[in-house]
Amino acid sequence: MGHLNNRRVLLAVCGGIAAYKSAELVRRLQDLGAEVRVLMTRGAQEFITPLTLQALSGHAVHHSLLDEEAERGMGHIELARWADLLLIAPTTADALARLVAGRADDLLGAVALATPAPKLLAPAMNQQMWKDPATQGNVTTLENRGIHFVGPAAGEQACGDVGPGRMEEPEFIARAAAALFATGLLAGQQVLITAGPTREPLDPVRYISNHSSGRMGYALAQAAVDAGARVTLVSGPVTLTAPERVTVRPVTTAQEMLDACLEHSKTTDIFISCAAVADYRPIEIASQKIKKHDAELSLSLVRNPDILATVSRSTPRPYCVGFAAETQDLRDHALGKLQSKNLDMIVGNDVSDPRIGFNSDENAALLLWADGERAVERCSKHTLAQIIVEEIARRRTS
Ligand code: CTP
Repeated sequence: MGHLNNRRVLLAVCGGIAAYKSAELVRRLQDLGAEVRVLMTRGAQEFITPLTLQALSGHAVHHSLLDEEAERGMGHIELARWADLLLIAPTTADALARLVAGRADDLLGAVALATPAPKLLAPAMNQQMWKDPATQGNVTTLENRGIHFVGPAAGEQACGDVGPGRMEEPEFIARAAAALFATGLLAGQQVLITAGPTREPLDPVRYISNHSSGRMGYALAQAAVDAGARVTLVSGPVTLTAPERVTVRPVTTAQEMLDACLEHSKTTDIFISCAAVADYRPIEIASQKIKKHDAELSLSLVRNPDILATVSRSTPRPYCVGFAAETQDLRDHALGKLQSKNLDMIVGNDVSDPRIGFNSDENAALLLWADGERAVERCSKHTLAQIIVEEIARRRTS
């Protein structure tokens, strides 16, 4: 069964009689694990109150593009980046036409243009309006742009007509949303992912580590499972819950992470090294707590093994993807690591930008491989993970 665990769904409600079903849709999306925020067009507010949807979603409803107060909270660009999925339900005939034209004079239009997330539309309108060549042409145009549709269903309509145009049932729409994340792109593939920091002990109570939250690696594990892969996640100490259907190998030190990876790497098809591995560890671990005596204390450290480089030079060798966190000359440094570590792909990100990276829910990246690249604008880590998985699947078969 599909799910939406940890997915952020932006539900946009347009002005049609089916808007009353949106209240239940919020619930059905939440049942599948989604965090839901609601956007309403002006027309939608004639059919259902923002208060209802605010109460159900637990967040203020977004409805205005030019509202200073709203823009100070979560502005339209932030909202567009926040979403893992833009679900428009109901989608009216007018909304279809506006999306085709790329209009940005209301919040929905602006967000639809600004989001890199996939879009799912649940049309609802009078059957004659649905059948009209103008509407059908708009649907075809949007489908050609990669926009997904669910419904409409056929049957008796609010206006008394019978035919296609009823919005699909909320349960059905929620399942269609979940199914979008199940791409099957890595069906049957074995994927090994490292995530989080490592901890290198100094004594029984202290360690050297870093700020990695593990979120990017866990999002990749989710995206790989959604793509049909069998996933082993070798995870440093983090506070995250592993996605369902992922085998987790908890480790603490870089050496433990290497050992766990080597145990699995021979049977893995794809290795994604997302962990922030401590580059050095103390030469000796004190058996007792180190006491303070002198004004200064020097630590002697030794280089940790490079897990990614070790796996990428092993035989048989999986398809290897690394990460490069840089503060300057992103492309050059990332390309250098692609070559020196013998990788198939590297995901470079600029960690000098505080809005993305270690403890943020968002990221932006430059994906590089031997003869190409793809820049991904700032988006949620789940969306970036899905894009990385898509590119891995494409590169491996091209
Ligand atoms: N990596 C690894 N084992 C290490 C160090 C890094 O597997 N001991 C992996 C990371 O998971 C990441 C990539 O290598 O995929 C990062 O490369 P690295 O050269 O270590 O990056 P930095 O640590 O940022 O290097 P530098 O500090 O030299 O920029």
